[in-house]
Amino acid sequence: MIKIIIATSNPHKLEEINAINSSNDVEFDVIKGSFNPDETGKSFLENAIIKAKEASKITKSYCLADDSGLCVDILDSRPGIYSSRYAPTQKEKIEKLLNELKNIPKEKRTAHFTCSMVLVNGEGEILHTQEGRVEGLIDFEAKGTNGFGYDPVFYIPQYNKTIAELPDTVKNTISHRANALNPMIQWIKENLV
Ligand code: IMP
Repeated sequence: MIKIIIATSNPHKLEEINAINSSNDVEFDVIKGSFNPDETGKSFLENAIIKAKEASKITKSYCLADDSGLCVDILDSRPGIYSSRYAPTQKEKIEKLLNELKNIPKEKRTAHFTCSMVLVNGEGEILHTQEGRVEGLIDFEAKGTNGFGYDPVFYIPQYNKTIAELPDTVKNTISHRANALNPMIQWIKENLV
């Protein structure tokens, strides 16, 4: 059994990661107290590295960080690493996005969520990185109440639903975070357990 600290103080992230993790060999926990390093990187990966190294400095143990966001093709991958800073509230973020895509037809509304994950050891050395994605389309209006962030406008054609209309159990099998975390856990089991 190995214990990995998630580089966040957000319990929601721990909950989601625990829901995805089906291994008995790997246990996750979060940093106690506040944790808010400046995300000054120019990519998801750079920001995840900043968070992972900072967390390892504090905890001196294995740390896993992720950085994620929404990339819309016709907006040249915006909001991208600025997804959480795109507008002040989540409602305004969605309104702004729908407004930017107002006259864009369905076939040109392609987008993906990306998640970059970085695992470091207690000395802050990078052991493994992993990217995960989920592809979809930006819907014409917000639908559903599950999930968070841009989930109400992220439409998955395979299910004919937005992520916010899908139960957590489905989101946790198809999400960018699951697509990064599952191979990351596999790597941990093969190399550290
Ligand atoms: P973080 O790096 O996980 O904190 O995510 C940055 C921002 O990307 C969040 O504030 C959300 O706006 C957006 N985001 C990341 N993951 C998701 C998701 O699973 N659903 C919807 N929005 C997400």
